[in-house]
Amino acid sequence: MLRVAVLLSGRGSNLQALIDASQGDAFPATIVRVISNVPDAQGLQRAQDAGIDTVVIDHRKFSSRTEFDEALDTALHACDAELVCLAGFMRILTQDFVEGWQDRLINIHPSLLPAFKGLDAQQQALDAGVRIAGCSVHFVRPGMDEGPIVAQAAVPVLQNDDDASLAARILRQEHVIYPLVVRLIAEGRVQVEDEQVVINVGDSSAGILLNPSLADL
Ligand code: GAR
Repeated sequence: MLRVAVLLSGRGSNLQALIDASQGDAFPATIVRVISNVPDAQGLQRAQDAGIDTVVIDHRKFSSRTEFDEALDTALHACDAELVCLAGFMRILTQDFVEGWQDRLINIHPSLLPAFKGLDAQQQALDAGVRIAGCSVHFVRPGMDEGPIVAQAAVPVLQNDDDASLAARILRQEHVIYPLVVRLIAEGRVQVEDEQVVINVGDSSAGILLNPSLADL
């Protein structure tokens, strides 16, 4: 079982998707710790309800990003985490931290990267007038929302969408691809070669590229 730690700042619906997947049959990863920088994050309650160890590391109590990231690093090593999942973790991580967890640190972002990095990705997509939006899971590199992409899911932007309706449609796909990526990594099928992800999917690419049809939404 791959030992996974999840870092979050808020609602924790992606954590919930990972918890639900990990409680299913034959999921090859286990969530050993959930860390939040926000003391009252809803995600902490979800973890506690699932019997998962939680730690609060309040960034406001640290005088620098370096000290905060050192505390994170210590808490991750203390639980022997082998993979770290950012799931709505709204802090920028230092280069030292990111490099210390090279290829063992993944993030989910609500856009088809490399488009629409940073905050309010769904609103950025609406403002740009794109017809297709989506989400990405990628290995983390020091630049914000940068790094080799493991999986993406596409969703249509509908004529009457607002930020909330588009975000909800994307979120449903986030909950599909994040557990998928954790499973693939835990199965040892994911490799980074020359900053591109290579996935050993046997003789099929099903499940890697998700293009749900309108009928599925
Ligand atoms: C998700 O939509 C996630 O993709 C996004 O925050 C939300 C967290 O929701 N992350 C980012 O924008 C990171 N740049 P959740 O707390 O319910 O999982």
